[in-house]
Amino acid sequence: MKIGSEFHKELFCRSFIDSYIQYQPEQLPWPKLEAVALDRLRKIPFWEEALNTELAAGAKINAYLPMISDPLLYEAVALQGEEEARHGRLFQFLIQHYGIETSGQAPAQLSGNPEQAFIDFGYGECLDSFLGFGLFKIARQSDFLPEPLFKIFDLLLQEEARHIVFFVNWIAYVQVSRGRGAKVLRGLSSVWNYGRAAQRMMGVVGNSAQSNSQDFAATEASVFLDNFSLELLISECLMENARRMSEFDSRLLQPQLLPVLAKSALRLVTAFSQHNSRSNEKIAS
Ligand SMILES: [Fe+2]
Ligand SMILES: [Fe+2]
Repeated sequence: MKIGSEFHKELFCRSFIDSYIQYQPEQLPWPKLEAVALDRLRKIPFWEEALNTELAAGAKINAYLPMISDPLLYEAVALQGEEEARHGRLFQFLIQHYGIETSGQAPAQLSGNPEQAFIDFGYGECLDSFLGFGLFKIARQSDFLPEPLFKIFDLLLQEEARHIVFFVNWIAYVQVSRGRGAKVLRGLSSVWNYGRAAQRMMGVVGNSAQSNSQDFAATEASVFLDNFSLELLISECLMENARRMSEFDSRLLQPQLLPVLAKSALRLVTAFSQHNSRSNEKIAS
C-alpha cells in the first residue's frame, strides 16, 4: 500500500471510525470502593491534569475541524474530538463520584494555528500513551486499585491507542500529499516533534511534582514502586505497546521512533545495572 494514497486514507479513516465503541461514561460499572482504595484513588495527583488535558484536546480538535475539507478526514477527526470530550466527561464523573478534591484550575486557553496545535497534541498523545501503557500495566499487576476500575481505564487506553495509530497515519498522509513525504524528512520531523512533546511533558511533570504529589509520592506510590525500576518500566512500555499495536491492521503505520529509542535505552540501562551488580559482587567477595 502506498502511504499518502487514497487507499491509505480510506484504510486509516475507516478502521478508526469502524472501531468506535458505544458507551456513556456515567453508565460504566463504577465500583463501590472500600476506604483504603478510595483513599488511594483520591491521593493520585493527576486527575485534574488528566481532566484538563482531555477537555483541552476536545477544544483543540473542534478548533481544527473547520480547516479540514476532505469529508472522510473530517468525519474521523470529528469522531476523535467526540472521544476526547467523552474522556473529559469520564474524568469529570470519576472526580465527582469518588469525591476527589480539585483546585478548580481552568484548562489552558487555545492559541496559535489550530492545525499545528492538533499536530503538537498528536505527538504528545503518542508519548503519553507509550508511557501510560507501561505504567498502567505495572499498577494493574500490583493491584494498586480494584480491577473494575482498571477495566474502565483500559477502555480509555484502548481509545488512545486508536488515536495514536490514526495520528501517525494522518500525519504521514498529510506530509506526502503536501510533497514532504520522503521517509528521511518524515523521520526528522518526528524527532523534532517528539522533542517538543517531551519538553511539554517534563513541564507538566515538574508542575505536578511541585504542587500536590508529595503526599502521594511519600505513601501510596510505594505500593507499586517497591519493585519499580527503570528497566521494568521501559520493558513493560515496550511489551504493552507491542501487544496493543498488534491488534491493528498491519498495513497501517504505527509509532516507530519511541519503541526504537526505548529499546536502545533498555540496552543501556541493562548494561549499566549488570555492570553495577558485578562491581558489587567483587566488593562483597
Ligand atoms: Fe483522550
Ligand atoms: Fe486521545
